[in-house]
Amino acid sequence: MKGANMQVMLAGMKLQSPFIIGSGPLTYGAQGMKLLSRLGAGAVVTKTIRDQAAQNPIPHIHGYSRQGAMINSELWSDYNPRQWVEQELPAAVEAGVTVIASIGHTLDEIKKWTVPITATGVSAVELVSYEAMQIIPMAREAVRLTGKPVFVKLSPNWVDPLAMIRELEGCGVAGFTAMDSVGPVLSIDIKTRKSVVAGTDGRGWLTGSAIKPIILHYINALSSMTSLPIIGLGGVTTAQDVIEFALAGSHAVGLCTVLMLRGPDYLKKLIADTAHLLVEVGFASFSEATGAMDTAALPDEGTQQFSFDHTLCTDCRKCNQVCPYRAQHTGKKGFQVDRKLCRLCGLCISVCPTEALGFVPGSGQVGAST
Ligand SMILES: Cc1cc2nc3c(=O)[nH]c(=O)nc-3n(C[C@H](O)[C@H](O)[C@H](O)COP(=O)(O)O)c2cc1C
Repeated sequence: MKGANMQVMLAGMKLQSPFIIGSGPLTYGAQGMKLLSRLGAGAVVTKTIRDQAAQNPIPHIHGYSRQGAMINSELWSDYNPRQWVEQELPAAVEAGVTVIASIGHTLDEIKKWTVPITATGVSAVELVSYEAMQIIPMAREAVRLTGKPVFVKLSPNWVDPLAMIRELEGCGVAGFTAMDSVGPVLSIDIKTRKSVVAGTDGRGWLTGSAIKPIILHYINALSSMTSLPIIGLGGVTTAQDVIEFALAGSHAVGLCTVLMLRGPDYLKKLIADTAHLLVEVGFASFSEATGAMDTAALPDEGTQQFSFDHTLCTDCRKCNQVCPYRAQHTGKKGFQVDRKLCRLCGLCISVCPTEALGFVPGSGQVGAST
């Protein structure tokens, strides 16, 4: 099966794939950025460049491989801005990498570094700040100083991350990255009784699969407020996640934690898997899926009833196990639900590993249609 077209246009940039490597350890310098571009990334966002090189606490990254999540207390780039301007950025640009330079976190740093960074030939700039109040003046100044598209990275930790969208549009920004890590958070090693990461109070920031639903909500809410492009970033692990991000309104999809836990080569698999899955669910290109979520309300629960395909049932009894009302008794012997107890909540259907159980429009009576 031929895969979907994965090329996208983003704020005037023609990208080989919709995958953008989020600012983080993988984009620590030119080497990392060149590798990911070779593996198929449409663009890479540098580790955040600040006035002073960071000195990170030890340790500062803790992975939960099985869950696909991480907690980190890593600061911004540990290269100073001179090294970025004189070595890392020119080397990546010269190698043909589409580079988005992340600059933070204050207006003074934007004033000082936007022009020299732009002069290296980067394709765009991304602004990041822990303080929501800083972002408007930073955006206004960056747009004035660079001729390149300016993306603003929204933080889920701001009181209202979407409160300033109109004002940011008014500043002339080219698009939004949604979003940064979620925090502060805490995780404790029960043997040492210490936080799993060092740094301020042992607090860290959560990334990966654990934050995906939060980020999806914001992408979708943001896409209903703006027509500017959105880089959806936070918690993407699989091709299904990528398509969810597109449906919610992402014009490109950021990756960080997944490629740290699974290794950069996983990008090639993700590109191929997404191209095939897009076709399977009815899209000829990634861009066609952008914003294609069906937001019409689900049919009333009163019009639903169960469907049950006994040929798919493996008798695993997960549906019985999860039923909060002890109404489910379905298994190899057939569909059995106590209609007086069942509330049609849907949990049993969502955990069925073989899709033997489903909902179909019906009378609202608990009963199976096959
Ligand atoms: C170890 C680590 C370091 C990060 N450093 C930065 C950074 O310097 N600047 C920034 O804007 N975001 C930084 N991020 C946040 C990521 O760019 C991204 O927003 C976040 O990890 C969510 O995406 P993910 O779930 O795909 O990892 C960092 C994330 C991690 C895991």
